[in-house]
Amino acid sequence: MIRINEHYEKLASSYLFSTIAKKVSDYTVKNPGAGIIRLGIGDVTLPLAKSCIEAFHSGVEEMGDEKTFRGYGPEQGYDFLRQAIARNDFQSRGAEISPDDIFVSDGAKCDTGNFQEIFAQDIKIAVPDPVYPVYVDTNVMAGRTGAFTNGRYEGLVYLDSTEENGFVPPPPRDKVDLIYLCFPNNPTGAAVSRKQLTEWVDYARSSKALILFDAAYEAFIRDPQIPHSIYEIPGSKEVAVEFRSFSKTAGFTGTRCAFTVIPRECQVYDSTGKAVPLQPLWNRRHTTKFNGVSYPVQKAASAVYTASGKKEVKDIIDYYLENAKIIREKFTSLGFACTGGDNSPYIWVKTGKDSWEFFDTLLEKARIVTTPGVGFGRCGSGYIRVSAFNSRQKVEEAMERIGKII
Ligand code: MLT
Repeated sequence: MIRINEHYEKLASSYLFSTIAKKVSDYTVKNPGAGIIRLGIGDVTLPLAKSCIEAFHSGVEEMGDEKTFRGYGPEQGYDFLRQAIARNDFQSRGAEISPDDIFVSDGAKCDTGNFQEIFAQDIKIAVPDPVYPVYVDTNVMAGRTGAFTNGRYEGLVYLDSTEENGFVPPPPRDKVDLIYLCFPNNPTGAAVSRKQLTEWVDYARSSKALILFDAAYEAFIRDPQIPHSIYEIPGSKEVAVEFRSFSKTAGFTGTRCAFTVIPRECQVYDSTGKAVPLQPLWNRRHTTKFNGVSYPVQKAASAVYTASGKKEVKDIIDYYLENAKIIREKFTSLGFACTGGDNSPYIWVKTGKDSWEFFDTLLEKARIVTTPGVGFGRCGSGYIRVSAFNSRQKVEEAMERIGKII
C-alpha cells in the first residue's frame, strides 16, 4: 500500500497565492471584462532590460552553433556569473564573498524551501510572523511541526513583527537553532537597520544558530544606511546563509535565476557538537538534485552587472518604487497607516478590518487584487499587502478606484 507523507495533511489545502488566484478567477468568470488590476502577487510586469535580452539572444545563438554549444554546465553556476555576483553584490560593499561561496539556482523560492533538508529533524526553528509562507510550509512538509491551531503551527517559534517593533522582531529570549529572516521584508516592506541585524548576528553566534537571510528584495533599498547584505555585518559569515534572486531585481520571475551564498567559514554542528562546514553539505545536495540553470539564462543574468545593465535595472526598480510611493501616499491620505514602499515594492496597509473582508471589498467594489495580510500569519491579521509591480497607468487607475470606494 502506497502511503502518504501525513505531514502534508497539516497544511492549508492550497498555497496562499493559489487560493487568491482561484478567488480572482471565480470572480472573473462571474464578471467577465471587469478590468481587474492586479496588485497581489509580487510578479513583475516590465520586460527584461535591453542588456539582458541581448545577452540572452547571444547565449541562444551560441547554443545553436556546434563550435560554441554547451551541454550540462557546472551545477553551481558558470564562473562568469559567480565572479560577477561576488564582485558586484558583495566585494563592492566590503563583504569578502568569493565566487566559490555562490550557488546559482532557478529561484530563491526553491532554495529557501529546500535548504531545511540538510538539518536535523528536531531543531528549533524561528520564523517571523507575518512570514513568506514557503519557509513555514516546507518545514511542515518535512515533519518539523505539530498541528495548525489558532493560526500557528505547534513547535515553531514565532517572532511577532508588529507596529510596536516597526515590523523588525528582536531575537527571542529562548534559544533557537535555525532562523528565517527576510529584509526588505516580504510581506511588510520593512527594512532592517545595521544595528538590528548586528543583534541577530550576535544572537546566532552566541547560540550556535544559523540565520537564513532572504535578501530577494535588496535591489529596492535606497536608504544608504540600510545594509544590502547580511555579510556587511562583522562575524556574519560563520552564521548566515544569504538568498538572492534576479526575479525582482531584474524581472526574471518568468526567466528563473537566483543564487544562494554559503561562505566557506559558515559552520553547523553534528549530534556530538562537532563543527561541520555547511558549504560542502549544500554542495552535495545541490549537485545531487539540481543540474544547473541554462546557459542563456545565466548569460542574461550576468548582463545585470554590465554598466548598461546596471543602469537599466536601476531604472526599472525606480519605476516600481515610484508606483510604491503613489500607492503609499494614496492609502496614507485615506487615513490608513502604512509601512514599506520606500525600500521595498510592498506596502503593508493597516485596514482596521478583517484582512479577507477588506480583500473582498477591494476585489468586488474596485476590481483590485491585493494580498490579505492574515495569509502570511496571525500578526498579519487586519492588514493587506499591496504590490507595486504593475504599470504606472494601472497603479494610478487602481488608486483612483480605491479613492472612490473608501
Ligand atoms: C510574493 O508575492 O510574495 C512573491 O511573488 C512570491 C514569490 O516570490 O514566490
